[in-house]
Amino acid sequence: MPAAESPLASVLFPAARIASRVRELADDIARETDLAGIDELTAVVVADGALMFAADLLRALPRPVRFQSVKMSSYGGATHSSGVARLIGPAPEVNGRHVLIVEDILDTGLTLNALHALLLAGGAASVRTAVLLDKPAGRRSPYAADHVGFICPDAFVVGYGLDFDGRYRNLPEIGELRRELRPAGH
Ligand code: XMP
Ligand code: MG
Repeated sequence: MPAAESPLASVLFPAARIASRVRELADDIARETDLAGIDELTAVVVADGALMFAADLLRALPRPVRFQSVKMSSYGGATHSSGVARLIGPAPEVNGRHVLIVEDILDTGLTLNALHALLLAGGAASVRTAVLLDKPAGRRSPYAADHVGFICPDAFVVGYGLDFDGRYRNLPEIGELRRELRPAGH
């Protein structure tokens, strides 16, 4: 069978660059938690998008880590935020724990603001956030992540966990979809 043509119009972050940046983030997080005297972290991973990132980041983190995943809904359709972010399913168990939120992309900020508040309300001892991508142009609600992999241009991106309609999460790199495959308005 012939290899399928790439669905990407351009590659923004190649796999090797992601891999080395994720290792740097893990080192930064280890150093920071050391300084804060924190031993065990509870990773709260925003599924499904952050699963690839979390798998690589947490395996590179030389610390005891508890793993919990949460599902958040902020997008009414495939690509446009409805303005509401809510938890779908059970709340994570974080009382007294030092939490590291792991998220694929910080865009409007609605998801992380809602999740952060929810974790503090659940009694988390501390909350830090690691995002692979930060898209400052999309912000509707101020939020600053503690650890950012890359600043992302104002484009709809897929790959390495990021999807369009459930597709392309398994691409090893991150890039912009070919025009004819893009969601309307992008
Ligand atoms: P906020 O609330 O910050 O939420 O807008 C971030 C969530 O929105 C999704 N998102 C994207 N997903 N390509 C994607 O595949 C993108 O360019 C993109 N921008 C935002 C993503 O699910 C993230 O969890
Ligand atoms: Mg997501």
